[in-house]
Amino acid sequence: MPEVDQGKQAKNYHTDVPADTHGFFLKGAHSLDWGMKNRLSRIFRPDTGRTVMFAVDHGYFQGPTTGLERIDLDIVPLMEYSDAIMLTRGILRTSVPPTNTKAVVMRSSGGPSILKELSDEQIAVDIEDAIRMNVACITLQVFIGGEYETRSIHNMTKLVDWGYRYGIPVMAVTAVGKNMVRDAKYFRLACRMCAELGAQVVKTYYVPEDFDTVTASCPVPIVMAGGKKIDELDALTMSYNAIREGAAGVDMGRNIFQSEAPVAMMKAVNTIVHDNATPDEAYELFRSLKAEG
Ligand code: 5RP
Repeated sequence: MPEVDQGKQAKNYHTDVPADTHGFFLKGAHSLDWGMKNRLSRIFRPDTGRTVMFAVDHGYFQGPTTGLERIDLDIVPLMEYSDAIMLTRGILRTSVPPTNTKAVVMRSSGGPSILKELSDEQIAVDIEDAIRMNVACITLQVFIGGEYETRSIHNMTKLVDWGYRYGIPVMAVTAVGKNMVRDAKYFRLACRMCAELGAQVVKTYYVPEDFDTVTASCPVPIVMAGGKKIDELDALTMSYNAIREGAAGVDMGRNIFQSEAPVAMMKAVNTIVHDNATPDEAYELFRSLKAEG
């Protein structure tokens, strides 16, 4: 079992010591090939080392979620305020104009819509099609501790092998099943397993306690997952804390497109991620932009 020795021997994550990136701006990426580094540089801004990713892939198992009913009308106009967009190939091809130059993070897994069987996923995109769509990254849910954990891991390692062959990084999304405890111990395990098995980026949830140990013990960049819609100030505060505790960006969906003022929220998140604004400064920006309409 993981971490059974805790208590017998204190662990040292050296949370105050940044990882040595060996001359490349992103953690864990210095020995990757040019193409992969170039793609990562389209997702993460080289000047800040961070990303604002916009997640609109929910329809792949939820159908038209609130806010995502009309991607063409309500979502495409928001994309310009992000660094990267996370979506399915169906939405990319049908609803996003090819003049869009944002880094595409392609949802590459799929499976049941039934909540209790969500972990029963398979790879849902061929690597050749990902290349055809000029994606910057391929991504999937990884259900560590879930019923279909082994399959989920195999899906990821298959994408990693394809990705290495063609220079496309993989972002593993640490999925949290109903019965999984959302704490730092679980996310340390899940994130580290994904990185050890080859993911070049990991997306995971923020936890208020010891999130810095999750980021410190993961040798690749961590992007914070947004989660369900919460109050704007709370979402900005969570983003700020995640960045301060070592995340290399955020990947938000509902907290942007379900906000009363999505453009204002996008801009406020950007100031946290790229300009190191405090939650109060970012919230003030959100409020003033919202008031301007
Ligand atoms: C689950 C996912 C989602 O499909 C999506 O990206 C979630 O976005 P948000 O929770 O911010 O609305 O990757 O983890």
